[in-house]
Amino acid sequence: MPQLKPHILIDPAHCDKDGLCVRECPAALISFGPDGLPVGAEDAATRCYMCGHCIAVCPKAALTLAGIDPSDLPAVQKKFSVAPEAAEQFLRSRRSVRRYKAHPLDHGLVTQFIDTARYAPSGMNAQPVNWVVVEGRESMLKLAGLTAKALRRLPYFLGFIEAWDKGEDTILRGAPNLIVAHAAATGFDHTVDGAIALTYFELAAHAHGVGTCWAGLLMLAAKDSPELCAALGIPEGHQVLGALMAGYPKHGFKRLPPRNEAKVRWI
Ligand SMILES: Cc1cc2nc3c(=O)[nH]c(=O)nc-3n(C[C@H](O)[C@H](O)[C@H](O)COP(=O)(O)O)c2cc1C
Ligand code: SF4
Repeated sequence: MPQLKPHILIDPAHCDKDGLCVRECPAALISFGPDGLPVGAEDAATRCYMCGHCIAVCPKAALTLAGIDPSDLPAVQKKFSVAPEAAEQFLRSRRSVRRYKAHPLDHGLVTQFIDTARYAPSGMNAQPVNWVVVEGRESMLKLAGLTAKALRRLPYFLGFIEAWDKGEDTILRGAPNLIVAHAAATGFDHTVDGAIALTYFELAAHAHGVGTCWAGLLMLAAKDSPELCAALGIPEGHQVLGALMAGYPKHGFKRLPPRNEAKVRWI
């Protein structure tokens, strides 16, 4: 029988015993052996949640995790670090886009944004998000129509529905794409994980000049419209975590809009 490789494997030729992996593991699965080299717990494979901090923190590339060699992981490149002022303007200048050019986004670009969203934090590193990408106005209008149908009985949305009935797309704003995040409804609430992943998506999109807007009306309708969930292809037992309209903006914003003062209490 071939010997199974340990979940955490230290290369003694490279490890300088700095203990970074020991201190960084959030599950405390790594400790120092008698020779000062780090060792993984015997049951590490079952308790590890594959956050990858141990392999990512080691400056000597001395740790192999679950058969993954550090050389297979991309390095963090200094040349791409963002100046604080640039980050501030970038974050503040993201706007909800409600006027879109007609053509859907290139598949490669959407894939790239989803790839970036894989790095969003998630509770216990569950990475629970599944994605649906809708493209083209025909599909978008169908989904907007099902949303209008589901929300019609709620008086609060009357204005949106009346405008929709007159032929204005107040629901998906003429966007050529919709990005939907969904996850298994397992008892763990993944709503926050979904919101963060979609936020990563919208910021990645913003960096490429692609506009997005949260599709709150569709999200609300999806809560109790099996017809809408079926049209989105949401599998049985899954719940919609959130959705973004997406496409190229027709207009650019020239200033930052006003916002409320932050309400902060230091205690
Ligand atoms: C959870 C959520 C749901 C939203 N739903 C909608 C929506 O259904 N339609 C819409 O036009 N904007 C929607 N928005 C956009 C907000 O109106 C917008 O973020 C807010 O007015 C601030 O503008 P800004 O995003 O340009 O900073 C939603 C935003 C969030 C966070
Ligand atoms: S992947 Fe994360 S949880 Fe697993 S051993 Fe490494 S640091 Fe610990």
